Amino acid sequence: METARKTRTVAIANQKGGVGKTTSVVNLAAALSARRRTVLVVDLDPQAHATLALGLEKTPGVSLYRVLTGEKPVEDVIQATRWDNLNIIPSEVDLAGAELEFGAKEDRLSMIAAALRPVKESGAFDYILIDCPPSLGIVMTAALAACDGVLIPIQAEFLAMDGLALITNSIDRIRAGANPALELSGIVFTMVNSQARLSQEVMEEVRGHFGDKVYETAIPRNVRVSEAPSMGTPVVFLDPRSKGAEAYKAFAWEFMAKNPSR
Ligand SMILES: Nc1ncnc2c1ncn2[C@@H]1O[C@H](COP(=O)(O)OP(=O)(O)OP(=O)(O)O)[C@@H](O)[C@H]1O
Ligand SMILES: [Mg+2]
Repeated sequence: METARKTRTVAIANQKGGVGKTTSVVNLAAALSARRRTVLVVDLDPQAHATLALGLEKTPGVSLYRVLTGEKPVEDVIQATRWDNLNIIPSEVDLAGAELEFGAKEDRLSMIAAALRPVKESGAFDYILIDCPPSLGIVMTAALAACDGVLIPIQAEFLAMDGLALITNSIDRIRAGANPALELSGIVFTMVNSQARLSQEVMEEVRGHFGDKVYETAIPRNVRVSEAPSMGTPVVFLDPRSKGAEAYKAFAWEFMAKNPSR
């Protein structure tokens, strides 16, 4: 008899916009699924970029929002993608109201954990990867409260350390309250231009401070990566030999080693 899996839940978060959160969620999920890990992506950003990048449309009524409001059981909003082992809870515009709507609820910090609990307990997935919106609001905080770990994608640019301080402070606050077990699942550099001297200096500074929490694999800036979302296909599947895809596959190996699911 197959033993039940232990699901590993990781949020991909950074309050800064456009740093590669969604691209990293989508391609990490794709690379893990290709390695026969069962993956559930949870799109918590009302922009729904992860939903679109995985080839689904925004559908009214199909998102975690409906589970948070109590309208639907979580099983009803899990959608298959075109690829084996790769599933998603899509986003929809109504999630944009969540910050205001749930802000005063007493259980606001535990609401996402409660919504996902049946999925975790079912053991159906090796990994649940949560794509967070670019803010330190209620939705991101509640997502971090529901996770084993948080993965931070960052760009190697001026003031990168300041941005990291903001999110690591938030992590510390969540550890002090809602989720003492929350781990830092690592920091991954995205959109790296290997020619730029400043990038190299920033990467050294961050590695000096966070040590082996920083992934060896850095994701290079690569045009194929930016073209893939419009085709509704992760670059890992669209153009597996491109530099971006190769980097995300190497990153996924490292991620699995640092974050074992079973
Ligand atoms: N390695 C890369 N090479 C080239 N372009 C990239 C790369 N990674 C991401 N991009 C592009 O950069 C933009 C921002 O990436 P992405 O949407 O993943 O960031 P994000 O942090 O999720 O943004 P938001 O904060 O708005 O949710 C997108 O247009 C994406 O296609
Ligand atoms: Mg995003």
